[in-house]
Amino acid sequence: MKAVRIMDLGNHAGETVIIKGWLAAKRSSGSIHFLQIRDGSGIVQGVAVKAEISSEVFSLAGSLSQESSIIVKGKVREDKRAPGGYELSLEGLELISLSKDYPITPKEHGTDFLMDNRHLWLRSPRQNAIMKVRHELVKACLDFFDERGFIKIDAPILTPAACEGTTTLFETQYFDQKAYLSQSGQLYMEAGAMAFGNVYCFGPTFRAEKSKTRRHLIEFWMIEPEMAYCDLDEDMRIQEEMVSYIVKRVLEKKNAELKLIGRDTTLLEKVAPPFPRLSYDEAVEILRKEGLSFEWGSDFGGNDETVIASKFDKPFFVHRFPMQCKAFYMKQDPQNPKVALCADMLAPEGYGEIIGGGQREDNLEVLEEKIKEHNLPKECYEWYLDLRRYGSVPHSGFGMGIERALAWICGLDHVRETIPFPRMLYRIYP
Ligand code: 4AD
Ligand code: MG
Repeated sequence: MKAVRIMDLGNHAGETVIIKGWLAAKRSSGSIHFLQIRDGSGIVQGVAVKAEISSEVFSLAGSLSQESSIIVKGKVREDKRAPGGYELSLEGLELISLSKDYPITPKEHGTDFLMDNRHLWLRSPRQNAIMKVRHELVKACLDFFDERGFIKIDAPILTPAACEGTTTLFETQYFDQKAYLSQSGQLYMEAGAMAFGNVYCFGPTFRAEKSKTRRHLIEFWMIEPEMAYCDLDEDMRIQEEMVSYIVKRVLEKKNAELKLIGRDTTLLEKVAPPFPRLSYDEAVEILRKEGLSFEWGSDFGGNDETVIASKFDKPFFVHRFPMQCKAFYMKQDPQNPKVALCADMLAPEGYGEIIGGGQREDNLEVLEEKIKEHNLPKECYEWYLDLRRYGSVPHSGFGMGIERALAWICGLDHVRETIPFPRMLYRIYP
């Protein structure tokens, strides 16, 4: 008999099947044991009735402890009240490995304890559901670009120079020279855009940020498209299309998971283009009206973003930040040299920035000047300057942090639950 996965039980109603999994929980009432069996694809209740099975199987069922690995045989019965719509009448049971004193019990545990046990915590229904939404979100991003003819070309992780400012670089030794872990694949995607037109990369990025906030990770994953012959306006259009596409997909395919997580999806259902666009100046105005003192020229802090983002019930853009608070590659607005042709997308409900992007400086002399102003070692960027020497064109792109987007879509308080093994300021374990 072939084993079936719990998510496929609906195709086997009335049949006797085998399930390979673990015991999530158990409840007994003298002559019946109720086993919550999980196999990673779902959970099903297995009912062991004393009068219907051998005494060995019945007593084995009664002796099982949480997270013991088991193979069960049983008949699939439709049951409207059961969480997945089906129950299993237990016929056979094999213990593969007994689990002793599983640390995560049904009682409440503190966050630190759960984070220390992240390798086990992933088995719990809520964490399981979040990771499944993550999977769908990533897949939706790849599908979105695939359907539009983008080529996925990956960027290196070990790099000779900074992309997003030198203060957050992770340094490492590369034989007899210094290297840095990638902060962003963007510069390489710009080379890709000149070679293939439209490209994207998806990979881990690293920021040695001394920020201990609910939206900062040290290692996070970014999807980064780059498009030749594309200006800021078109860039924002693609962003709002992509975000609407992934939200729609998650709502369609992972509704049960969102429900389990407790996400109210009313606002998500309304996510569709166009997204509101306000200038940096207008965003500063909002902050000042709220009584916050904010100096023109600085970047928004987490709290500023929360305040601005609580004014909206769908994602929106803040565009044209002051040049001084942005990276060296940003293109100046020809209408106003003080600001850059860039935009951040902020998620509503107080979540804040999920995307950063914009139009890139495509003029060789201006870019050389910017590299100097930012005190960057020009020799490391000669290859990047070549892109302006040999057929430079207007081009734009953006980067969406998967964890930030997921925290918003799932309605989570903190990004630590959005990645299987979070790296944070004070945590590199497990
Ligand atoms: O705004 P950022 O720094 O932009 C870039 O890296 C560009 N080079 C991207 C590009 O245009 N190709 O980062 C982009 C996004 C942010 O909007 C946020 O979602 C995420 O990356 N991000 C972080 N996520 C978690 N933890 C952190 N420490 C993050 N820093 C940025
Ligand atoms: Mg940013």
